[in-house]
Amino acid sequence: MTQKPDWVPGGVDITVPHAARIYDYALGGDHHFEVDREFWERAKGLMPGAEVLARANRAFLGRSIRWLAAAGITQFLDIGSGIPTIGNVHEVAQEADPEAKVMYVDIDPIAVEQSRSLLRGNPRARVIEGDLREPDSILYHPDVLDLLDFARPVAVLTVAVWHFVPDTAKPAEIVSKIGDALVKGSYLVVSHLGPDTTPAGLEEQARVVKLYENTPTPATIRSAAEVAALIGPGFDILDPGVTAVTDWFPDPEDADDPPTPTGLGAVARKR
Ligand SMILES: C[S@@+](CC[C@H](N)C(=O)[O-])C[C@H]1O[C@@H](n2cnc3c(N)ncnc32)[C@H](O)[C@@H]1O
Repeated sequence: MTQKPDWVPGGVDITVPHAARIYDYALGGDHHFEVDREFWERAKGLMPGAEVLARANRAFLGRSIRWLAAAGITQFLDIGSGIPTIGNVHEVAQEADPEAKVMYVDIDPIAVEQSRSLLRGNPRARVIEGDLREPDSILYHPDVLDLLDFARPVAVLTVAVWHFVPDTAKPAEIVSKIGDALVKGSYLVVSHLGPDTTPAGLEEQARVVKLYENTPTPATIRSAAEVAALIGPGFDILDPGVTAVTDWFPDPEDADDPPTPTGLGAVARKR
């Protein structure tokens, strides 16, 4: 039986794989267990592009923050932020503007604890535990309201998290509530596990989705049109639209990366 290290908060079950730890392992981080590593190795076996996709998603996150910073955004609310690893949002945002403020939110207590310990001494970045399916508990959380000024534009980052929100949780209504809390000129960043259009690719993805059924956060795949519908009428989806994450303003050094049609990304501006 796996021994719980002292960095695991009470109540965390380390005998079932968890999205945050699986992704941390995929990106080469340090906070995962045997079940998470086994899950990822099986997922890679089923979907050989999975590793490229995880890195491409993280690169998309970094590019979107730099793009937003260049557009004048200084406040970020990162929901489903994950376990801190390479290229964390506050590092990228505060490199662009040392005054930038970042609020992290994750459902996973390990992600929250690790973020808290990393952010000690950084007055402009904080973390809370929260559930995207209950957006009001995030948007009106005292720590969020203390750090972020919603009278000014805020970028809400929801990167590689919507596929953990099933249709029964009404994701479009969640986005609409987020939009209601934002002033015009705010942004929403989305990335999502999307369908491969080849029959073999669809089969691979269906198998990976099945694997996630045995985790606390089962996964749902959505097409580009479904992701656009999820973003809804409160936001304008900016060019180049809902696209493969690798096609969203790729950096010249990423130009040789293999395309990852299974990971969709978009940046939208609040109307
Ligand atoms: C694949 S990771 C993405 C991390 C980061 N956003 C990135 O793209 O690099 C997904 C994260 O979403 C979190 N998550 C899943 N469901 C969530 C929910 N309902 N509310 C908040 N976070 C959630 C998981 O714990 C995990 O840390």
